Amino acid sequence: RDSSTSRGLGDVYKRQKSDNPRIGSFDPENYSFGDHFIDHMIICEYENGQWGEPKLMPYGPLPFSPANMAFNYGQACFEGMKAYKDKNGDVFLFRPEKNFERINKSATRLAMPEVPEEAFMQGLKVLIDADRDWVPHGEGKSLYIRPLIFATEEALKARISTKYLFAIVASPAKSYYSAPVSVKISDYYSRAASGGVGFAKAAGNYAASFYPTKLANEEGYEQIIWTDDATHENFEESGTMNVFVRINDTIYTPATSDKILDGVTRDSFIQLAKKRGIEVVVGDVKVKDVIAAHERGELKEVWGVGTAVVTSVFEAIGYKDKKYDLPKLSAEESYALTLQRDLVAIQTNNAEDPFGWRVLVEKNILETV
Ligand code: COI
Repeated sequence: RDSSTSRGLGDVYKRQKSDNPRIGSFDPENYSFGDHFIDHMIICEYENGQWGEPKLMPYGPLPFSPANMAFNYGQACFEGMKAYKDKNGDVFLFRPEKNFERINKSATRLAMPEVPEEAFMQGLKVLIDADRDWVPHGEGKSLYIRPLIFATEEALKARISTKYLFAIVASPAKSYYSAPVSVKISDYYSRAASGGVGFAKAAGNYAASFYPTKLANEEGYEQIIWTDDATHENFEESGTMNVFVRINDTIYTPATSDKILDGVTRDSFIQLAKKRGIEVVVGDVKVKDVIAAHERGELKEVWGVGTAVVTSVFEAIGYKDKKYDLPKLSAEESYALTLQRDLVAIQTNNAEDPFGWRVLVEKNILETV
């Protein structure tokens, strides 16, 4: 190998294995989403206009000043993705290139440097390979992976930071089953504005959603269906997810835009629905049309999709002072649950992968290059 032109992963990845692994004390039957972290993490630092070498390190806290620019001015974005273990113990990522593209779109919008492919794509494989024992196997189980970038410069001028950290951490995730929820259609608060950062997975988008969600919770709703900031007449997203509506046997979902996250699960659902011959209309989803369809008895399902839960089925939607109950469909009748089964079967290597979505995490990746 000519080291001036091609470096092997073993050269690039400085490795420090944990001398205190916690996997032995992790109970794979008893955990909740996002509360336990695998033994290692990937870290890559940016300064003086360039990214350093990515490192595999023991998972743990990092020291930052309260004057850190990310805390003060919010330059921070993240990704959400999963790894799955099949019945033979092989581990797969799902469409990781989509997350790689998106984190760099988010970073660019927040005036942060793009992450190099070797830190993101190889970082995922190096990390998941090192901690493959942490990837749970079984009905609905997976490893949730959280790549993120944030400013690290200690400075209080409101300007673009000159230092950043890219990290990947991961946490075992559980069952896809989540109880049906009631959601409130927002007629005041917005998640995103035209020309803003709604399409980016900016940390601040989530911060801004918590207060309206808390108010909806106080009214008895679990989540909000976000509507457009100008008129509040069009569906945009629901909670932290993209939203789908089924009227009769046609599925509707808002088109992606500068206000709507280009969700990997959303895109996968659209492709899987089309493969089944279900009609999918991507475009405006008007509140008044959804309510009118309910009044005609034609509104069959409304649901949210995202990497974390895959599908969140809605049992009722609230608008103004009214609550509209949705029909209770069986798992076979429901498009939401049918498409979820199709998706999970591909993710977990229990079905053919006609779209080429699965990416195998090779074993001993650092040792073999
Ligand atoms: C996801 O579904 O991946 C999300 O974005 C939810 C996450 C904020 C927990």
